[in-house]
Amino acid sequence: MTVLTRHTGSDPRQEPAPEPAPDVDLDTVDLDTVDLFDPGLHADGDPHRIWAHLRRAAPLHRQTLPDGRNFASVTRYHDVRRVLSDSRAFTSERGSLLDQLGHGDEAAGQMMVSTDPPDHAALRRPLQHALQRNALEAARPRIRAAARAVLAPAADGRPFDLVTAALDFPMTFTGALMGIPEQDWPDLVRWTSMAASPEDPGFQIRNRHATLAIAHHELFSYFTEQTAARPDGSGDLLDLLAGLGSRAKTVYNCYSLLLGANATTPHAFTGTVLALLEHPDQLAEARRHPELVPSLVEEGLRWTSPASSFLRHAVEDVELEGGVLRKGEAVAAWVGSANRDETVFQEAARFDLRRTGNRHITFGAGAHYCLGAILARIALNELFTELLGRLEHLEPAGPVRRLRSNFIAGLGSMPVAMTLRPTGPQG
Ligand code: HEM
Repeated sequence: MTVLTRHTGSDPRQEPAPEPAPDVDLDTVDLDTVDLFDPGLHADGDPHRIWAHLRRAAPLHRQTLPDGRNFASVTRYHDVRRVLSDSRAFTSERGSLLDQLGHGDEAAGQMMVSTDPPDHAALRRPLQHALQRNALEAARPRIRAAARAVLAPAADGRPFDLVTAALDFPMTFTGALMGIPEQDWPDLVRWTSMAASPEDPGFQIRNRHATLAIAHHELFSYFTEQTAARPDGSGDLLDLLAGLGSRAKTVYNCYSLLLGANATTPHAFTGTVLALLEHPDQLAEARRHPELVPSLVEEGLRWTSPASSFLRHAVEDVELEGGVLRKGEAVAAWVGSANRDETVFQEAARFDLRRTGNRHITFGAGAHYCLGAILARIALNELFTELLGRLEHLEPAGPVRRLRSNFIAGLGSMPVAMTLRPTGPQG
């Protein structure tokens, strides 16, 4: 029986740990006790160490939960990509999140992420144009203002929690694009956080079940009201969503769009800042070379992989690199593992902001490829441009807490001490 290395409350104020070579100590992982379902593993354990072992020794891993539900896991890049993108062989209609295992998905056929092609296209198409790069250029000033707001707590010179400061970053521009009144944003941020990470002590109310029930009730009621009482023809995203053909389709896709934005984007930012703190040479390089921000953002997306796992069910027997999945089997595709696959990424376990040919699949692949990927990239580029352009000093100011979730890979808190140059007269 094996003891896995723990990194609870890791403190980046200590000397950065040397990056483990891919093979070091992997034999200390006991395949029989690996529990990828357990949110505690992702908070207090080291999933990257386990994934590295699985990629090598058990690329198609099967696990049975104490209540009898079982699922397979794929961890290699090509298998994860195949499972996410081959909608003919793998359906999303029995749930796209590991937490839905055994429960099915009542939004199947109505919410785009839980609908297979060809019906999927009718739900996605109306929003696609509004989330293209040229349509989003008009939102850039608002995104820049949102980036400044994330960094505003640095002004009083005291340490602050960067995770809290970043939590409502996507809401401020996605909310505006959707046409959601500003006074409702704080509630929506709280409810989407509860829906995405119901196990996390920072968001949980009583227990997981109650947290999810409250979050879903609040979000569905909110969007039912909002889309019923809208002036016609405002042209914002809620307007487009209101035209999807049924109240259920409208409400599910409002929910999914906002959850997609709020639950992930802040973690790509804070996780990348943590990587920079843990790799001071990379932070120094980023400060010297502002032109590397786009490349830093891509490496940060690969490194953090905030949407960590997705669920699918095989609709036929499928042969993967790691083995054969049988018809009907549930399979979790681990994006965070795929993005560290050493057969695809050179020195995959190294955070390298000069990485070239970065083929990460942080935004998924195939028909369900993230609808907000362009928006997320614009937002993260603005935020890092603002941070690195004004940064005088940055250091950790306390232990880091990781989020308790098998879906979202992110931080629950990260105290930092930060000083910034003031914004220019136009800012
Ligand atoms: C760093 C930030 C983000 C990450 C890592 C991310 C990741 C992902 C991934 C991996 C998927 C594929 C899900 C699947 O295959 O089942 C996805 C889908 C989706 N994302 Fe994102 N996302 C991000 C930001 C956003 C933003 C800003 C929005 C909204 C403005 C958004 C909205 C969506 C929607 C609506 C889908 C479903 C697309 C479909 O099923 O066709 N995401 N996202």
